[in-house]
Amino acid sequence: MAHMDEPTFDAAALEAETERLFGKLRECGWSRAECALYAPLTLEVRELAARRNAVILAHSYMTPDLQAGIADYTGDSLGLSEIARDTDADTIVFCGVRFMAETAKILSPDKTVLHPAPDAGCSLSESITAEQVRALRERYPDAAFVCYVNTSAAVKAECDVCVTSANALAVVDALEHDRIVFLPDRYMAENIRAHTDKEIIGWDGVCIVHEQFTPERARAWRAAHPDAHMLAHMECTAATVGLADLAGGTGDMVRYVREHPEVQEFMLVTECGLSDRLRMEFPDRRFIGTCALCPHMKRVELRGVLACLRAPRPEQIVELPESVRRRALRSLERMFELTRRGRDASRPLSNTGDRSAQPVPSAP
Ligand code: 13P
Ligand code: SF4
Repeated sequence: MAHMDEPTFDAAALEAETERLFGKLRECGWSRAECALYAPLTLEVRELAARRNAVILAHSYMTPDLQAGIADYTGDSLGLSEIARDTDADTIVFCGVRFMAETAKILSPDKTVLHPAPDAGCSLSESITAEQVRALRERYPDAAFVCYVNTSAAVKAECDVCVTSANALAVVDALEHDRIVFLPDRYMAENIRAHTDKEIIGWDGVCIVHEQFTPERARAWRAAHPDAHMLAHMECTAATVGLADLAGGTGDMVRYVREHPEVQEFMLVTECGLSDRLRMEFPDRRFIGTCALCPHMKRVELRGVLACLRAPRPEQIVELPESVRRRALRSLERMFELTRRGRDASRPLSNTGDRSAQPVPSAP
């Protein structure tokens, strides 16, 4: 892929960009001086993205400079995968972890998918292999195999249907099977089990971020902030989720904040990027520091995105074996089909993806 010439920006453009960034990032504690340092980088990223006709997608766990500085869309796994499927852009720059960029490639094989941090993995996606799924299939031949989107393309290829945190319950409900093998998140399997009569067989994967939120910590937060609403990700244990006002995915949490203007304080029992996003989107509310950092998500950095757009290294261009991609696509297409059917079902989860367009001005 061609190396792009470095654009230059005049003082007025840099000043305007500094103010734009500061207007958002100050909600997350950034100073104007820090924004001034980042302004040439965000401008260059936007300029190079425009030259490539690229869309920049950022998961809600990305740092504020990525979410408010360069992303065309921020969102959850479901919403961003829908954008990756439907976009007219020639290139998708995915600011998130590897399985998310792979999902974009599965859905849009003719587009160039750039992943700035190829080593940004995920403890869940690394907890199970395609061989292990094949062995489970022999053990449970009558079960439907459902995999969380936090899996490799090879694992998706071995399963019947994929789910995200936004639609897991609706998809499990919609399947005609009474026996479900749910992979690989042990806690999400527990949380699904609590809402269905179906038999849910789990696996031993955990999210290294969400497993840190023990019920003891959640109880202590509740006691310290009795008026705050607690929103917990479905990757937390059932005991922690049981203490929350909402259990869902990141998109469900964004929606909850939007739909409860009367609530002033929130505790987000999830990765810190979401608190930053919500501080920028809802500056009049308070988000109490209950979050934890995902070391994988935080591998994606502004300078890395810029380097990738200037001249991507081969491993930053997502490629998948076509036979794996095609079979993984079946799992994702089944998810979209069942999600569409289940959107009118009244379940604790929204069954709807989160995809917020960011009003990023085009580069000068
Ligand atoms: P969401 O789909 O809820 O955004 O979650 C992705 C994820 O990795 C949570 O840890
Ligand atoms: Fe994976 Fe957990 Fe990080 Fe999400 S927060 S990417 S599930 S390790």
